[in-house]
Amino acid sequence: MLDVQRLAKRYGEVAVFRDVSLSVAAGEFVAIVGESGVGKSTLLNCMAGLDVWDEGRIVADGTDLSTLGDDARALLRREKLGFVFQAFHVLPHLDVAQNVGLPLLLLQRPDAARVEAMLDAVGLAGLGHRLPQELSGGQLQRVAIARALVHGPKLLLADEPTGNLDPATAGRVLDVLRTQARESGAALVLVTHSAAAAAQADRVLHLRSDGIAP
Ligand SMILES: Nc1ncnc2c1ncn2[C@@H]1O[C@H](COP(=O)(O)OP(=O)(O)O)[C@@H](O)[C@H]1O
Ligand SMILES: [Mg+2]
Repeated sequence: MLDVQRLAKRYGEVAVFRDVSLSVAAGEFVAIVGESGVGKSTLLNCMAGLDVWDEGRIVADGTDLSTLGDDARALLRREKLGFVFQAFHVLPHLDVAQNVGLPLLLLQRPDAARVEAMLDAVGLAGLGHRLPQELSGGQLQRVAIARALVHGPKLLLADEPTGNLDPATAGRVLDVLRTQARESGAALVLVTHSAAAAAQADRVLHLRSDGIAP
């Protein structure tokens, strides 16, 4: 599903990482751990085609991202990718159902029943008409997870998705993330500080400046 080959990223003369290679199979859950500043978010953003790199290749669902222009990358993201961030990034002026339905709207495939089903799946049934400000942090992250999966993406990328949550809430949110990714058959790549979160993955990879390894 995802193939990263000898990726290197620099800012000017300063290297962030090099020789980063990994593959993620369809339906697999891989956790990436590493010290703060080692480039975990950068790597995830490269996988999403949101950042550029200096050497190496990323092939997502058979497509070499470097062969795509900005528009084609955006389209690939829209169709095949879901992204969950630490800071939720839920839109404050849209209600919960509108937030979750946004990826379908952008694909011109609005589907209220699918939105309802996703809200149900993440434990937010009946809250579709609430505004984000009326939800807790754990609920907001479940909105973000429902939104990331509503269009059936093949790849789900999550950057410290439980970083803003207390441990009990984090555990529940992670459980929803893992279960929903599995049920939809999406490959899940999770970047995390949390050993407890990483322990849930099928595979854990440690990112360092000179590569990535189990
Ligand atoms: N625009 C930028 N210019 C220069 N260095 C940057 C820039 N953005 C990020 N960095 C550096 O890249 C490194 C990796 O950052 P990041 O991917 O956020 O790490 P992590 O997510 O592992 O904490 C950090 O050392 C950071 O200072
Ligand atoms: Mg980060």
